[in-house]
Parts: sequence; structure tokens; C-alpha cells
Amino acid sequence: MDRRVFLKTVSGTLCLSAVRPWTLTFTASSAQPAAALPQLFGADYYPDQTDKSLWEEDARMMAEFGITNVRIAEFAWVLMEPSEGHYDFVWLHNAVDILHAHKIATILGTPSAAPPPWLTEKYPEVFIVSEQGMTLSPEGRRFTCPSNKLYRKLSVNIATEMAKSFANTPGIIGWQIDNEYTLGPNSRCYCKSCREGFQGWLKAKYGSLDTINKTWGTAFWGQVYSDFSQIPAPTPSGGPPNPGMALDYDRYQSHANVASMEEQLVVLRELCPNHFVTTNNVPLLADVVDAFDLYAKLDFVSHDNYPGFASIHAQGEGGNGVPLDQIAPIVALMHDAARSVKGGKPFLIMEEQSGKAGQPIFSPQPDKGQLRLWSYQAVAHGAMGINYFRWDTATFGAEQYWHGILNHDRSKSPGFDEIAQTIRELKALGPEVLQSAYGAQAALCFDYDSDWATAIQSGHPKIKYATDIGVWYGSLWAGHVGLDIVDATKDLSRYKVLFAPLMYVVSNEQANSIREFVGGGGVFVSGFRLGVKNSASLIVKMPLPGLLRDVMGVTLIDYVPLYTEKQSVKFAGMLTGPDADCQYWADVLKTEGAEVLATYTKGDHTGQAAITSNTFGKGKAIYVGSRLEPPAIGRVLNILAATAGIRPAVEAPVGVEVAMRHYGQTDTTFVLNHTSKPQTVTLGKSYKELLAGFRLSGAITVEPYGVRVLSLA
Ligand code: GLA
Ligand code: ZN
Repeated sequence: MDRRVFLKTVSGTLCLSAVRPWTLTFTASSAQPAAALPQLFGADYYPDQTDKSLWEEDARMMAEFGITNVRIAEFAWVLMEPSEGHYDFVWLHNAVDILHAHKIATILGTPSAAPPPWLTEKYPEVFIVSEQGMTLSPEGRRFTCPSNKLYRKLSVNIATEMAKSFANTPGIIGWQIDNEYTLGPNSRCYCKSCREGFQGWLKAKYGSLDTINKTWGTAFWGQVYSDFSQIPAPTPSGGPPNPGMALDYDRYQSHANVASMEEQLVVLRELCPNHFVTTNNVPLLADVVDAFDLYAKLDFVSHDNYPGFASIHAQGEGGNGVPLDQIAPIVALMHDAARSVKGGKPFLIMEEQSGKAGQPIFSPQPDKGQLRLWSYQAVAHGAMGINYFRWDTATFGAEQYWHGILNHDRSKSPGFDEIAQTIRELKALGPEVLQSAYGAQAALCFDYDSDWATAIQSGHPKIKYATDIGVWYGSLWAGHVGLDIVDATKDLSRYKVLFAPLMYVVSNEQANSIREFVGGGGVFVSGFRLGVKNSASLIVKMPLPGLLRDVMGVTLIDYVPLYTEKQSVKFAGMLTGPDADCQYWADVLKTEGAEVLATYTKGDHTGQAAITSNTFGKGKAIYVGSRLEPPAIGRVLNILAATAGIRPAVEAPVGVEVAMRHYGQTDTTFVLNHTSKPQTVTLGKSYKELLAGFRLSGAITVEPYGVRVLSLA
């Protein structure tokens, strides 16, 4: 997916409603030991695009600015290997040495996202071929195939030479491999190398053709394969592809990207054992690659954060995007995903917006206070450091309008002083805050199989996995419910509630884990289309919701896509409130022990159950069988969260975000006003304000785009 598509998809979703007057105190659960990392408040820097005569001045200015480190060289392959096998790192050593002399550390990027023209001229087989059969051209970046062995070898070669040259260079602290894997308009490749790679991957996964034929059901439309070489990639044909094959292809593409990253990782681990290694991406947004797999062997997640870019593309182009103050939940979701991908480990923002952002159209300059606010938002959700993109602003190239800390003429940008202030403040917060854990008591299930399988067969043109993730996340964000993002196969026992919209594919492992969670006292809230398919993308041969039927205490009577006909629900019990309209889908439920919390009000299904709650073991399982129109979905989800015992520490209006991190016995509560107006929040206890040093309690005012960092100590 690219940013534009993702943001359009997710933002249908903003559901800024349903805040309830909570007053009780939130108690944090686990704590995270501080990692032995230097403080990282840096900038993305391009000596390869900057006249050498300016390097010294840049380093001096950066040091004065407060910058601790840079990230460099991730697109400089052609300068490091000007012709095949001939390497030149002299210029890069010079740049690193100058920076080091000013006490600025360096994260080096390996350059495999942008190969040199000599390479693509000599090896034209390395290009991505799109689903429609178009071969990408080498003018931009991210146009190379993840399966191509030769390209992977050439990428490892340059990474190896870099690692050898910089393993013991003072100032080098770590590595970024490649740049934003799969984040671009043609993120899956369908070339010959990929097709062959897919066939080999299938052989390893299934062992025999017989198993593949059975698992996919190739008897349908006479697709029985008698040789691995016959297996195609799912490119346009006279009808849609076999859903099992298509899902496996998506898994293969993710695997190929992860495998190619890991080839570079092996080399860096061996040659540079004292350096950290990461890759920058935007988990969930880049949903072609499974972020849990991508980061599994890396030291920590780093991700790229451009809230202003979201404002352009989220709802439409031509300046009609979501206002910047409504972007907050989308950005919060990205941060929560970044933190959750490695089980709560603090992450690094590898690129943070520092001015107007976009290519070729760009966002407005963030309002005064917003750049600082967004930095605090990242930290509130688990960031341990931030690199601002970029130090200067290019006067040439595709990103001439991606504004940095310096203007085109190297004068101070509008955000210059604000970023410098933010860096000073964040450094002063210290490692106890920056390395601490996040205190989520609830989790949102994000599952790549359900995401990909829903994209392959959405059932209704308006149904999109990312949209429902966004609706549920945005609704709970508005109610100040902190969420981890999980894939539901891990230990869920630390959560009070697990929310699972559109969990279309449910594996045995997930079903077992959810059953154990509910049995042990957890609350599981499922959306419609639960457990329709198994991991092979076969429809389960049992009444729905399949593997979780006993836990949910319901059986589906029918599932109904909604087009022109209308449907709505009447609420009962703890959900009692105004009737709500349904969009796109209605699962009609028959209870088998569950309590009915809402019934349909129209047509053949009038009076039949739409939302149910079942007691299973010590916990509860709630089935939200229809896609309720906002704001009703927000009201329902927040009542369910509150009933499960989730209470934010601070009573705050919509648009004011409350997030909590904790270290040992110390909690830090962030109150972030994303609106352009002063807002009043009510503190249940007396807090020390860590930025200002004074104590606060009761009703306090947070200025427009203002930040309060509160500690009970
Ligand atoms: C991305 C990339 C950077 C740069 C910025 C701005 O996230 O990683 O190289 O392109 O965005 O576009
Ligand atoms: Zn390919």
C-alpha cells in the first residue's frame, strides 16, 4: 500500500465521539528495563546531496541545535559504488568524521532502496513487475524485486563493504537496512523471479503438490497442478484467482521482503557486533510486509511519522484532507503499532515531520505548537528518540518541497526554534521516561491474514480491513482507551479487553489463545465476519463463527451484505441508547446462552440478535454483528471498555489525548491537546508537571496544541 491509499482507507474512520466522564485511576501493569542506548534526538541528513564546503557548518549548527545523531547514506549507493565492485567510502568517512568531531553520532543506511543506474542498466531483470504486468522504471526508488537473487546479492555486497569500512569508525552507532520496505505504489512484485520464488516457497511449506491441490481446492475451475512450475502468480486472468493461492502469494511477498532484509542483517551482525540494527517503516501502513516478521530479528522498531502528509491524503486531495487536529488518532495508531510489533519495546522515530511535507503537493506548515505536540505524542506512545526529517531542504530532486529544519536558503525554517526547544525538553525527561513501557490495559487485534484475505474477497465493495481497524481504534482513542496492537496468538493475559474487528480468518492458534483469554476472565469483543475462514482461506465446515462458536455463545443464522436496503438496530441492557443505522453488513445471530444487547429492526431479520454478550469461563465474549454507523460504534465500544473496568487517569474532552508510560513504580501521564483551542481536563490526583516543575491538580487548562507531562511522584 502507499501512504495515499492507506490514509484514504483508514480515515473514513475518524469517530471522535463517545467520551464518558471517567474518574477512577488507571493502574499500569508491567515495566520495561531501560536499554543501554544513547539518547537519540537527531536529524536525517544528506551529505551526499550537500556541497562538501557546507559539511563543517552543518555539523556545527546541528551541534548547537542540540542534535545527538544523524541518519545518512540510505540513498547514496552510486556514490559508494560508482561502478560495479569499485567502492569509494572516503567521502562518507569524511562526513562521519566531521560529525563525530562535533559529538554527533551516525546511523548508516544501507542503500538497497535506490540502486545506481549502472546496475539497472546492466541487470534489467531486477525491476518490479506490477500486478498488471508493467515493469517499473528506475527513475525513482523502491522499484526492485524482493525475490531477485542477483539484486539481493548486490545489496548484500554493498552492505558488506560498508560494514567492513565502518565497523570500527568512531561515531557510528547503528544501521538502518534499506528504506521503507514495500512502501510505495507497486509494493508487490509479480515478475519471473517472484513466481519462481513463490513455487520454491510453496514446496518448502507444503512438501507436495498433492497437499497444495487439496489445500487450495484446485479442483475448482480445473486448476489441478502436476508440476510446481505450473503454479502462477495471481495476476489478471479471466476470473478471480483461487483465494488460497492469492493469500499464500501475499504471504510469500512478505516473506521475500523479510528474507532479503535478513540477508543484510546477517552481515551487519557479524561485522558490526557493537552496532544496533533496525529498518525504518510504518507498521500497518506498509501492510504488504508483516511487521511482526520484519522486526523479529532487529534490535528495535524505527518508523517514519508525517502527520501533515496524512492531512492531505486522508480524505481527499486538493487540500480537502482531514484537518490536522483530527489526524491525531491515525498517528496514534501508527505509534501503537510501532511499539507493539516488538511486544512493547520503545521505538525510534527515524523520520519525523519538521515542516511542510509532501511530494509533489505538500501540507501546510503545521500550526505553532504542533511539531512539538507530535513529538510528545510519539514519546507518549513509546518512542525513545526522534530524528527529524530532514536537516536542510533540497533545492533539487523529487523532494524539493519536503521541508526540513533549514529552509532552501539555509535560513531557519518556521519550525526551527520549536524543534530545538522540543529536543531540549525531551532530553531533560531522561531515560526513565524515554525507555519506559506503555500502560495499555486493552488490545486491538491486527492480523495480516485477515487483512490480506479481506482484500482478496471483501464481500462488499465498501468493506476494508484498514477502515474497520481505524474505526475501532479511533472510537477507543476518543474514549482515552490505551491500546496495544496484537496478533492474538501471544499471551493476552495482561489485558482486560481484546477488540477484534473483521477477524475474518481465525487460525487454531488464535482460537485457542482467545478461548484461554476469555476463560481466564478477559473480555473479547469481536466485529462481524468472525472466523469465516481458516488459515488456508477455506471456509470453515461448521456453523459460524466457526472455531469460536462456543466462546461467543451464538450461531449465525445468516450473513447479509447491505447495499440499497436499510438496516438498523435497537439496543438493550448495558447498551441501551438511541437506535443506530447499520452499514454494509449484518451478521444475524441466534443465541446459544448469550444475552442479547441489540436486535435488528427492519425486514426479515426484525427482532433477531445483532449484538450479544456471552459468559464463558470467567470472562465475556461480545459479538458486534453489524457495522454500526459512527458515532454508535464508538458509544458501544467505549461502554464495553468501561464495563470491563478500563478507566483513564484523566478526565479529558475529545481531541485531548491521554497516554501513560510507566517504569518500575513510576507512571508518566501525557496530556496532549490536539485542538486549536484551550481545553480543560480534570486530574483525579495531585501531579508534578515534569516540564514546568510545579504541581497540578483538579481542573487545569491545556493551551492549544499544548502538552502536560505529569508524574505522581
Ligand atoms: C519517507 C522516506 C524518506 C523521505 C520522506 C519524505 O518516509 O523514508 O526518504 O522520502 O519519506 O518523503
Ligand atoms: Zn519480483
